[in-house]
Amino acid sequence: MILTTLLLLSFQLLGRAEAFVQRPWDESYALANAKVAQMTIDEKVGILTGVGQFNSRCVGDTHPVDRLGIPAICFQDGPAGLRLVKGVTGFPSGINTASTFSRRLMRARGVALGEESRGKGVNVFLGPAMDIMRNPKAGRGWESFGPDPFLTGEGAYETIVGVQSTGVQGCAKHFVGNNQEHWRYGVTADFDERTMREVYGWPFLRSVEADVSSVMCAYNRVNGTSSCGNADLLGPNGFLRENGFKGFVVSDWGATHDTAKDVANAGLDMEQPGDWIVIGGGDFNDLISGLKPAVNNGDVSIDRLDEMVGRVLAAFYHLGQDSGFPAVNFDAQQPSTPTALARRTSMSRLEFVVPPVDALTAENAGAGAAALATSLSNDLDAGASAARDRDVAVVFANAMSGELGFYDVVVGNMGDRNDLDLWFKGGSLIERVAAVCNNTIVVIHSVGPVFMPWSSHPNITAIVYAGAPGEMTGPSLVDVLYGRYNPRGRLPFSIADKETDFGTSIVYDSLTGFPEINYTEKLLLDYRYMDANGITPRFEFGFGLSYTTFVYSGPLSIVSSASGARAVTFTVANSGDVPGTEIAQLYLGFPAGAGEPKRVLRGFEEVALGVGESRSVTIMLGQRDVSIWDVVRHAWVVPPGTFTVTVGASINDVRLTGTF
Ligand SMILES: *[C@@H]1O[C@H](CO)[C@@H](O)[C@H](O)[C@H]1NC(C)=O
Ligand SMILES: *[C@@H]1O[C@H](CO)[C@@H](O)[C@H](O)[C@H]1NC(C)=O
Ligand SMILES: *[C@@H]1O[C@H](CO)[C@@H](O)[C@H](O)[C@H]1NC(C)=O
Ligand SMILES: *[C@@H]1O[C@H](CO)[C@@H](O)[C@H](O)[C@H]1NC(C)=O
Repeated sequence: MILTTLLLLSFQLLGRAEAFVQRPWDESYALANAKVAQMTIDEKVGILTGVGQFNSRCVGDTHPVDRLGIPAICFQDGPAGLRLVKGVTGFPSGINTASTFSRRLMRARGVALGEESRGKGVNVFLGPAMDIMRNPKAGRGWESFGPDPFLTGEGAYETIVGVQSTGVQGCAKHFVGNNQEHWRYGVTADFDERTMREVYGWPFLRSVEADVSSVMCAYNRVNGTSSCGNADLLGPNGFLRENGFKGFVVSDWGATHDTAKDVANAGLDMEQPGDWIVIGGGDFNDLISGLKPAVNNGDVSIDRLDEMVGRVLAAFYHLGQDSGFPAVNFDAQQPSTPTALARRTSMSRLEFVVPPVDALTAENAGAGAAALATSLSNDLDAGASAARDRDVAVVFANAMSGELGFYDVVVGNMGDRNDLDLWFKGGSLIERVAAVCNNTIVVIHSVGPVFMPWSSHPNITAIVYAGAPGEMTGPSLVDVLYGRYNPRGRLPFSIADKETDFGTSIVYDSLTGFPEINYTEKLLLDYRYMDANGITPRFEFGFGLSYTTFVYSGPLSIVSSASGARAVTFTVANSGDVPGTEIAQLYLGFPAGAGEPKRVLRGFEEVALGVGESRSVTIMLGQRDVSIWDVVRHAWVVPPGTFTVTVGASINDVRLTGTF
């Protein structure tokens, strides 16, 4: 059985002639503040508020100040390519990017997303999304990097560095606790300080370390207070600023639920889109009408107003967007070939998608090629009869989810998935085909885990977990099936047999309006919950196969440096017949009594090896990687005691163990 996650990166690196160099923040602030000093209140408010939903060429635009040479700043979704823009790439989703476990590829995708954004004149790319997949049914989970905070943090970091290397601003979203679609405009996600630091806030901390220039606050409330009006998150002593964030905070579209005075003083810097009203918790007052009166009557100080504008302009100067930046050359209000599919994918148009059936047909076009029979409906009988008496059957099944809002309910699912079953009776189709063909290959296109009760059927010879792969799904799949590409992706989540195995739920119904969701599981998501509850998943976190095999050898060396960092070194060899890439993973077990999950991912490295080749691999553990958030000291603290390090091919495929 082969279970792989496909790596489907469909772009070529364009390679800018010269590496873009960001202007230092202090110089950027000096330029910004010199402009602010010349502005009227109306001009300042215009920069802090959008021009209105559907009123401009981008999904969000600020008001320009022509007399001072400040253009409209263009914001565009994100996060898997440019949405509502013609002629652009439908990139692999965040969850597929996570499945590469490759910082190199995460970075390369970020660079390509940035290049396309820049080419279209987009100042702020609205991504990456880094919402933790708290529950696998969460509608937008696939836009981000899965349930593991460390993997999500690395995905966020590399994407931002990649995007911003092209002179385009990244936007870390959605801050924070935006973990389900039902009730998202006002649900309150309640979690404690340690869970914030170690799980939901962790990817945002990594975004700040990647020097992200903007952060988007979320629709939902946290601890009962709107994310966009939450000083604990956004304020001068809040999470972002305390961790060194230098850019600006923009609301999600319509996520300002409180008065201009409240949100401005809590730390929100910009409201988008400027006129789109969604009532959440608390009173609503649009910044565009409320900010100027609030400044005039002293509720918001001039200093705070200037700080808001300064941050927005400093980010613009920091990314060098004041010179040579292309003009907007698309119109998001007039995508020329609107399709239901593009809207329903929420995220990019997939204008150039090559379906697997086209790629398989093209592959088998020549003389002597295989004869193909297809069944392209969801009819189980037709599927089984197409497969009967065939040498090989390739069965495709899927499960989707998306964004709630002004998008449709899709196949009865309102954003969040209703369950973890394959759609359109996909599981039954697989069983029907496997009953008549002894070489059945299953291909799953899905936004996250699905139930796979059929996975050990003797006639199922391979399972390809293709995820949500972007426009080159067909050719990529053919490359894997025909052995031209050796798969190396790994599961960025666990696949279990019951919903309760994941330990969390989506709140669909609430009789009392916006619900309160207590994150009582705290740090225990996905494999961490399964570890704590003795649950063995069907396919574990980090699992994935290759056409070759790898051998790990020790001794596992753990060397401490004066800075508190540790270097973990071991050797990996390719012991099979074809070149391949191993994803070596490091899991850390904290000392007993530290209050941590049994083991947590703290490192990974891609190791490309030719046949018979071996290589020494070093994974660094920084001081914070071995720390917990101490809620008494409000600081990262290394707990005393013995740590266990395991290194291997998945969380359960342990090859080497050491302690320090
Ligand atoms: C939520 O409230 C709890 C209890 O007051 C507090 O410890 C925690 O830090 C708050 N969480 C966030 C994310 O601010
Ligand atoms: C496997 O496929 C063969 C047809 O090639 C079929 O006869 C057999 O019953 C199948 N096995 C199972 C367990 O369904
Ligand atoms: C399927 O059955 C045929 C006929 O019995 C046999 O030749 C072939 O090797 C089988 N294939 C697999 C993958 O078991
Ligand atoms: C969440 O926790 C709070 C404080 O412990 C409690 O009052 C509330 O009832 C809980 N809500 C739910 C939905 O469990």
